Amino acid sequence: MRHLIDPLDFTLGETERLLELAQKIIREPEKYAHLCDGRILATLFYEPSTRTRLSFESAMMRLGGKVLGFASADNSSAAKGESVADTIRMISGYADIAAMRHFKEGAPLVASRYAKIPVINAGDGGHQHPTQTLTDLLTIRLKRGEINGVTIGLCGDLKFGRTVHSLIKSLVRYKGVKFLFISPEELPVPGYILKEVVEPSGHSYREVRTMEEVMPQLDILYMTRVQRERFFNEEDYVRLKDSFILTPEKLNLGKKDLAVMHPLPRVNEISPLVDADERAVYFEQARNGVYVRMALILCLLGLVPGILEEGE
Ligand code: CP
Repeated sequence: MRHLIDPLDFTLGETERLLELAQKIIREPEKYAHLCDGRILATLFYEPSTRTRLSFESAMMRLGGKVLGFASADNSSAAKGESVADTIRMISGYADIAAMRHFKEGAPLVASRYAKIPVINAGDGGHQHPTQTLTDLLTIRLKRGEINGVTIGLCGDLKFGRTVHSLIKSLVRYKGVKFLFISPEELPVPGYILKEVVEPSGHSYREVRTMEEVMPQLDILYMTRVQRERFFNEEDYVRLKDSFILTPEKLNLGKKDLAVMHPLPRVNEISPLVDADERAVYFEQARNGVYVRMALILCLLGLVPGILEEGE
């Protein structure tokens, strides 16, 4: 039995095959419409979500399966003090696969150790968000044809942004990737990611404080929200929240085939005036999340062989 807790739980080969499966599902969804008949997905969300939870649910329903779960810790027995370990033991008897979002880093990993069913990390605190990464990789592939050789600017809260941390971990496995890290001084990529992930990969990177200075170089601009929920005081959040705002004027410094991505939700960091530009792909990116999660559910349930390697 396999889980997906960290983006590196899947080898590069497995990740690539999973993305190919997602592309097949996009082309011929009817072929996959009943593969999960009789199966149940549990969505265990201790922290708010729109895209991740609903795209998991949509994915399972589009595969013919059913869904149960809770959308906040307050609606579950976590409010009475039940541990993640006990909850997943129960859920293992109620569902065939579980997606868990938790405000505490490491909670889905703990769940996977007690589970009798595959567990998927749907975002744990400021740590990792591997299914967003699969969504992002699929979007880059669909836009550029390949991921190798991409120059990507990651912009916003790079310190607490779990989508950024997971994406960097995955992108270093591709060839010729260049990173431009665009953040306020207070919200840089954590030192451990630079030292343990980016630098050993040998990929080039630069940390900059303005979007404008790197915009003409980028193939992908990956915008992120400054996350109020990760700050210890409101004053710091208010000071930093509007550090970067993408406007049509700034976008016009970019290449004609630039793709602007964002895991969403956005607050102020992308002006709605940018939405009509064909380089804005964030809503398409959110839709891709359904296909990639369909592929993931099929693989973890062993319903499409040949994607995940034997014995891992
Ligand atoms: N991208 C993402 O994780 O969005 P939600 O918080 O709405 O799930």
